[in-house]
Amino acid sequence: MTQHVHPLLPRENDSEKSRGRFVQALKSHIANRVTPGVPELYEHRARDGWEKEHGEPPRNRHEVRQSLGQMSYYRLWSSLRRTSQHLLWSTVADCIERQAKELRDAAKIENPVGSLQLNADLQLPWYQWDVDIHAMPGGYRGEYGDDDVFAGALYDRGVYLYAMGQMGALNDDYGHSIIDNYLSVEHPLFSPEHILDIGCTVGHATLPYAQAFPAAEVHGIDLGAPVLRYGHARAEALGARVHFSQQNCEETDFPDEKFDLIVSHIVLHELPPEALRRTFAECHRLLKPGGLMVHADFPGYEGVDHLSQSMIDWDTYNNHEPFWGPMRDMDLVEESAAAGFGSANVGSVVVPTGRILQSGKSQQSGQLWLLVGQKP
Ligand SMILES: C[S@@+](CC[C@H](N)C(=O)[O-])C[C@H]1O[C@@H](n2cnc3c(N)ncnc32)[C@H](O)[C@@H]1O
Repeated sequence: MTQHVHPLLPRENDSEKSRGRFVQALKSHIANRVTPGVPELYEHRARDGWEKEHGEPPRNRHEVRQSLGQMSYYRLWSSLRRTSQHLLWSTVADCIERQAKELRDAAKIENPVGSLQLNADLQLPWYQWDVDIHAMPGGYRGEYGDDDVFAGALYDRGVYLYAMGQMGALNDDYGHSIIDNYLSVEHPLFSPEHILDIGCTVGHATLPYAQAFPAAEVHGIDLGAPVLRYGHARAEALGARVHFSQQNCEETDFPDEKFDLIVSHIVLHELPPEALRRTFAECHRLLKPGGLMVHADFPGYEGVDHLSQSMIDWDTYNNHEPFWGPMRDMDLVEESAAAGFGSANVGSVVVPTGRILQSGKSQQSGQLWLLVGQKP
């Protein structure tokens, strides 16, 4: 599958295409040929070495990581992964810088069907300043001049390469998965009038809601101005009516009980614990009684063996994802119950990713973990 070309998507010349292909090939090589050696290394060398030194095998994922960290194969694997991530971003960034002006111009929209509201006075929370999440240069907030859309273009193309196309031609599979594989199945008569997508970035997952519920007022909020500018122009180019605004999901300016449906897609793991708690409380405030909250993210570590936890946790330490591990250590169901939903009204489910095709078969065999809550 190739990425859907829309007017905002940076155009690659031959050399950039070839660099992109190299990055994908390197990522595939690491995943298929190098990564499988890490569990073997642990089973056959690292665990025994640790046990000899400490008198017992590693007791948790942190000790597994430390035992592996002494092995040169593990360090090579880790370095390759980190290098491939840098290569990915720098390949896309070079391509965008070459056409920065054209992209800024393409993002200027006349007579939009949706809207864009930026807030230059918004105080960005510390966790946006302290780290460029997943090593994306400048993060979601990096701004390089007036009307800049660099971070939006970087995310749009970068995520497609990172996921190797597995999130769909428009990187929109998570939105479709919630609509087709959760809402339509569990709440078939649900017809929301006001929908909010929090941490929408460029609206990858937001647009499916505007398409599935054309009569609804759909809002997308994010902290980053450049991603929102890009998202607004992208939505207009793709014919979707979405209202984007620059807001912190911990405390928004929407009135109480405005929304029937609040969703997020791979945002929770980028928030520190205290911000997560405030976000759940804000969702509770914003939902109408009977309204639904659905957050797509990753399941916790409970029940996962220590080696797998340690492999998953690589991103926490090496890919600028400081809250990746801490989120998985939290009980998000309990946290959202405590934020006002009550334990009888929250839970987690796993749904298939990918759109249900007319044949009834899913396009992909992946799975998506959802935290779901209904305001009593
Ligand atoms: C991984 S991206 C989400 C991707 C997006 N939902 C999608 O489906 O493509 C995480 C987003 O959350 C945003 N974010 C992080 N903290 C936030 C906050 N406190 N309020 C609003 N947005 C936030 C980031 O700026 C970033 O754009």
